[in-house]
Amino acid sequence: MKKSNRLFSFNKKGKLFIVTALSGLCLLFAVTVIGQPAKNGKKISSDLFGLFFEDINYSADGGLYAELVQNRSFEYNPTERSEWNPFSYWEYISPGFSYGRVSVETSAPVHPNNPHYLVLDVEHVGKEVKFVGISGVGLKNSGFDGMVVKEKDQYNFSMFVSQLSKNPISFSISLRTPKGIVLAESKITTSSGEWTKYTASLIPTQSCDTASLFILATTEGKFAIDVVSLFPEKTFKNRPNGLRADLAQMLADMKPGFIRFPGGCVVHGDGLGNMYRWENTIGPIEQRKEQRNIWGYHQTAGLGYFEFFQFCEDIGAKPLPVLPAAVSCQNSGGTWRIGGTGQKAVPMDEMKDYIQEVLDLIEWANGPVTSVWGARRAAAGHPASFNLQYVGIGNEDKMTPEFEQRFKMIFDAVKARHPEITVVGTVGPAPDGEDFTKGWKIANDQKVPVVDEHYYTSPEWFISNQKRYNAYPRNATQVYLGEYASWGNKLRNAIAEAVYMTSLERNGDVVRMASYAPLLAKKNFTQWKIDMIFFDNTVICPTPNYYVQKMFSANQGDYYFDKVITKDEKDQLLAASCVQDSKTGDIILKLVNYNETANPMKINLSRFGKIAAEAEQTVLAGNPDDENTFTNTKNKVPASTVVKIKKSFDYSSPAMSLTVIRIKTKN
Ligand code: AHR
Repeated sequence: MKKSNRLFSFNKKGKLFIVTALSGLCLLFAVTVIGQPAKNGKKISSDLFGLFFEDINYSADGGLYAELVQNRSFEYNPTERSEWNPFSYWEYISPGFSYGRVSVETSAPVHPNNPHYLVLDVEHVGKEVKFVGISGVGLKNSGFDGMVVKEKDQYNFSMFVSQLSKNPISFSISLRTPKGIVLAESKITTSSGEWTKYTASLIPTQSCDTASLFILATTEGKFAIDVVSLFPEKTFKNRPNGLRADLAQMLADMKPGFIRFPGGCVVHGDGLGNMYRWENTIGPIEQRKEQRNIWGYHQTAGLGYFEFFQFCEDIGAKPLPVLPAAVSCQNSGGTWRIGGTGQKAVPMDEMKDYIQEVLDLIEWANGPVTSVWGARRAAAGHPASFNLQYVGIGNEDKMTPEFEQRFKMIFDAVKARHPEITVVGTVGPAPDGEDFTKGWKIANDQKVPVVDEHYYTSPEWFISNQKRYNAYPRNATQVYLGEYASWGNKLRNAIAEAVYMTSLERNGDVVRMASYAPLLAKKNFTQWKIDMIFFDNTVICPTPNYYVQKMFSANQGDYYFDKVITKDEKDQLLAASCVQDSKTGDIILKLVNYNETANPMKINLSRFGKIAAEAEQTVLAGNPDDENTFTNTKNKVPASTVVKIKKSFDYSSPAMSLTVIRIKTKN
C-alpha cells in the first residue's frame, strides 16, 4: 500500500484501511465497510423483500417437501376430510394368489406422537404370477397423484418395522409403472421385534412421472409397519428430509431477504388444539406430531422448523418464524372468514409454559450447544447458531382483550430475556378497520418494534395508495407488510404490485419487510386462488407476479435516492425508484409503467461517482391480460440485455412494464 495522508481509504473489495499520517505506516486494520453509498441517500431496510411461506394449497406435503409417499405414517383421519382414514392413499395388495390380513393399530406405536400404524399378517405367499412377476402380501402407495422418478437418480427408501412373529420377514421394495413394470427393486429382511428403521436405495432404470411404491412381504409371518418414506437423493442442496430441488431453486433465485413461516392462518390454527407448535415439528420425523391443516388437509410436519431454518440458511435469507399469540384463529370452527367457535385463548394458568415455549425457540435457534435446546439443534446436525433475529407473535388475530393480554405477556418476556430479538406484532387482516386501529394502538402503547400488516385488494387500490406509508411516523413502530397481493395473476396485477413496491422502497425507512402471499399452489389442490407460483408434480408455472417479486428482491438496496428519475409526477400510473446496494456499490433503477402506452422517463446519475459504461437491463412487459399457464409457450418472462449507460439518459418505459437497470459503480 502506498503512503497516504488520508486517514481512511478503501480498497476494491470494500475493506476500510485506517492509515496514520504521522508514521506513514499502514495500520492493517481491515474492517468490513457497512456501506459507501453516494451522498444524500436515505438508509432503508436491507431486509425489505422476502418470502411468505404457508402450508396452504399443498405447499408443504406434496409440494416443497420432497417426500414422495402420501400418508407415510398412517395418520390421515376423518377430522381432516370425512372420507379420509389411516389407510387413505394406501392399497393392500396380495399378488400371486397370496393372502393375509391388514389392520390399523395404536397399542404399541413407534412413538406416542405418531399413534397409528399398520399390522400385516402374511398367511400365505403364493407363486409369482407370470407377466406380473410378483407375489406376496403388502402395500402400494402412489404418492401425491403418482411419484415422479428419474432414470439413474437415487431414491432413498425407509420404513419402520417391528417383527411380530418369530421369523424374520423378507421384503421386496420396488418402484413400478402403472402397468407394473419394475423400475427399481431392493430387498430388506427384518431382524428385530423392536421398531427398527430399515433402509434401501432404489435407482430407476427409466424415468416415470406416475410411479408407485410397492412394499411386499415375501415370507409368511406378522409384522407392524410405520413411517414409510421415499425421498429423492437429489433434494435441494442434497439435504436429507429435504426440499423438492426445482421448486426450492425457484425460490432461491429470488434472493429473498427473509422467509416468514409457517403461515398465515396455519400459525394460529383452527382452535387451540390446532395451533402450530414449533416443538412438535423438530427431531426425527417419526417423533413429530402430525396434525390437521387448517386448509383442509394433512400436515406431516416433515417440513418442520429445522428444515425451514436450514432452507433460510441455504439461500441466505433471514428466518422469520411466526408463533401464535396464544390465541387461535378467530374463524376457528367455521369456514374461512365465516366464523365458527371464534378465537380461543390459552388459559392463563398455561401461559407460563406457553411463554417458555416461545423462549425455547430462541434458545433452540441461537443458544450454545451446551444449552438444553441448543443441544437439540446440534443433535439434528446444526451446532452453529441459526442467527435468528426476528420472531413474529400472532397472525392477523382479532384484537380482543384476551389477545392483548397474552401478546403483552409474550412480548415482555421476549424483550426481557432476548433484547437482541426484534418482535413482529400483528394488526389484523385488513389495511384499515377496527382490528387494524386497535392493533396499531396496542403496538404503539407497547412499543412493539415491527407490526405485520395484511391486505389482499384490487390493483386500483395499490395504484391509489402509493402514499400510504409517506405519512407513517418515523422512529416508531415499523411495518412488515407480511401478506399482500392484488386480486389476480395477470400482468396488470403484477405491474400494479410493482408500482406499489417502489413506494415500499421509498418508505424503506418505515417499511422494514414485505412479502407477497400466498407463495405456492399445487394445481388441482388449491384453496387460495391467487398465488405466486403454481406447480404440479413435474411443471412449475411462475406467474408474472413471481417475476415482479423476483426483480425487486434480487435487486434490493439499502440506500434510497430520490430525484434520480424524472417522470410525469401527475401520472399515478408511472412509478420509479433508485436504490444502491452498499455491499456491491451497484445502483438499481426500477421503472414502472401501468399505462397501456409507453412513457418517457429521464435518469440523472450525476450524484454517483464513476459508473460502468454498460448495465444489465431486465424488462417484464406485455398486454395487461397476459397470464402464465402450464402449457402456454408464450408465458410472460422478463428479458435481460446489456445496455450502454451514460450519466444522464432518457428511457422510454414500455406499456404495462417493469424495468430494472442494474449499474455497477467504480471506485
Ligand atoms: O395467505 C392466505 C391467508 O390469508 C393466510 O393464511 C392468512 O393469514 C390470510 O388471511
